[in-house]
Amino acid sequence: MARWPMVAGNWKMHKTAGEGAILTQNIDPLVSTIWEDVEIVVCPPFTALKSVSTVIELDKLKMGLGAQDVYWEDEGPFTGAISPRMLVDLRCDYVIVGHSERREFFGETDETVNKKVHAVFGAGMVPIVCVGETLATREAGETEPFVRGQVRAAVDGVSVEDAGRLVIAYEPIWAIGTGRTPTPESANDVARSIRATIGAVFGQPAAVAVRVLYGGSVKPENATMFFGEPDIDGALVGGASLDADSFARISEAAR
Ligand code: PGA
Repeated sequence: MARWPMVAGNWKMHKTAGEGAILTQNIDPLVSTIWEDVEIVVCPPFTALKSVSTVIELDKLKMGLGAQDVYWEDEGPFTGAISPRMLVDLRCDYVIVGHSERREFFGETDETVNKKVHAVFGAGMVPIVCVGETLATREAGETEPFVRGQVRAAVDGVSVEDAGRLVIAYEPIWAIGTGRTPTPESANDVARSIRATIGAVFGQPAAVAVRVLYGGSVKPENATMFFGEPDIDGALVGGASLDADSFARISEAAR
């Protein structure tokens, strides 16, 4: 079964509501002929979800919408938090969960990642679960066991059906925003190991169905190399997703 490649733009803490709407309108004509071959998703900050969602709906864009984080409760006394229901209401399809910046700066743990994965599936959306090692872990030769552990913790208790719908982004922390990348072969080794972990927990059909993205300094210049690897199904793009032309060229490369 062929997997539908995905290119998702993680805008991080960039773009106001108005700027996000404009960026979305600028991306659309550049990718309008490739969306059948590549699923294109934008993940604005919470405050721009409404405006981007409105552009997608009114202009009938073939673009998916994702949030960058979520809380696991539906509602309640959780000041500052955003619930899955609120994201569904804004027509989000995806939620990035467990990004290394959330883990590093906002106290995200394997346990909270798992709660969020369940909450996102429970609300009918799909999590884009981020995993990846530090430079120290890589240099110690511990990358694959570390990442397998993150994956197992994230998907604990998920149903077999949901497991096949998962998107997992392998993002080596030392490659994020640094301009450094692993070789495509070594990124593929980790992607294959992630897929094998899903297979070990949920069985072969889920392993074949799960989409594994590479993330970390993906640019138009290096995207093709990663997309040529058999276990890499696309990219989670940070910096380069803030420029319509770069994001479109990366999406084109995924075709
Ligand atoms: P980058 O970020 O493309 O700017 O390295 C990727 C990410 O953090 O998702």
